[in-house]
Amino acid sequence: MPEKKTEELTDSATYRKHAERAKADKPPSRASPIGTVARSRAPGLVSRSEMQRHILAQDENLVPGHFGTVYYKPVTVGSVELKLEPLQPSIGTLVHGIDLATDLDDPKVVTFLRELWLERRVIMFRDQNHLTRAQMVQFAKHFGEIGASHGEREHIPNSPAAVSAQIEAPGFPDMLLLSSDADVPHIAGGWHCDATWQPRPPMGSVLLCREAPPVGGDTCFCDCYSMWDGLSEATRQRVEHLAALHVGGVIHQMNGVTPQAVHPVARTHPETGRTTLYVQQGFVRRFAEGHDIPEDEEKALLLEMKMQQGRPENTCRFKWEDGSIAMWDNRAVLHSGSGDFWPHRRMMERLTILDFDESRRTPYYSPGNTEV
Ligand SMILES: [Fe+2]
Repeated sequence: MPEKKTEELTDSATYRKHAERAKADKPPSRASPIGTVARSRAPGLVSRSEMQRHILAQDENLVPGHFGTVYYKPVTVGSVELKLEPLQPSIGTLVHGIDLATDLDDPKVVTFLRELWLERRVIMFRDQNHLTRAQMVQFAKHFGEIGASHGEREHIPNSPAAVSAQIEAPGFPDMLLLSSDADVPHIAGGWHCDATWQPRPPMGSVLLCREAPPVGGDTCFCDCYSMWDGLSEATRQRVEHLAALHVGGVIHQMNGVTPQAVHPVARTHPETGRTTLYVQQGFVRRFAEGHDIPEDEEKALLLEMKMQQGRPENTCRFKWEDGSIAMWDNRAVLHSGSGDFWPHRRMMERLTILDFDESRRTPYYSPGNTEV
């Protein structure tokens, strides 16, 4: 099945190595969401090419269209007329009517977007594919210092196992290209905040979709304030002053070293003063050393906390289109990409942003300092 390949992909040795699996007609690994969804969509088929044909036939003739009513709030900021569409009651706002290449020249627009971002945890935009990579960097710089591919520069993954770490955007070393196609499917699945295995994880992330699949590949976001509030009083008291160990994966290794960091279980958001639950499936392995909680109880507590992830009332789901952007607050939301879109292409560009105020970059818990 011919498919266009960018040089950025084929320049990566790891990409070419993974593509061998496709040449051998082996289906995507069943250990990944992409593989399990493919088997669910193409039951009984065992060759990759047959599965691919079967799934693409199901998705044939999909055309873009708009149906139904969108509820939004009209707001004028400076000379920009915005339409704010809430994705869910407590989390996520899609901001219509803005050109991110030009409209942030007005500082009032930047201030408005930052306040909206803090209030809604994640804000999204449509129709921004005209932004060059340089303009995407310019946009992100309004909100913080641009970090490396995974935040702070002390640890920049160079694992030979990581395809995305090897696919470079020429001239933009801090930009992570997250590519997924029929030959080398990839998705950041599982609930996580970005790079919490760093001692000072990135404050936020900006993700631009250059090419969206016609169906699937949505990103879900989960509100960490509600996760904390949703715990029982007894559990909150039990875990409030504990810390947890966050461990990166093989793909996050730098020079063969797997990164890890210890962070508080309850985290004070440095800008809102509110408490979030800073425990997630992606990187948290256990409580940090120094606690006296029996092993069985530790497992039960971690499970109870992780069960807060993905509750429908705490989450919103964003369907990508070509040129969509999401900017989220890693201190207030988890996110999880949906690995269900193989064999379609999905091409994303990501930047991390660090707090301008370096004193706020290390997670902390300050229970007396709530509701700033
Ligand atoms: Fe992520």
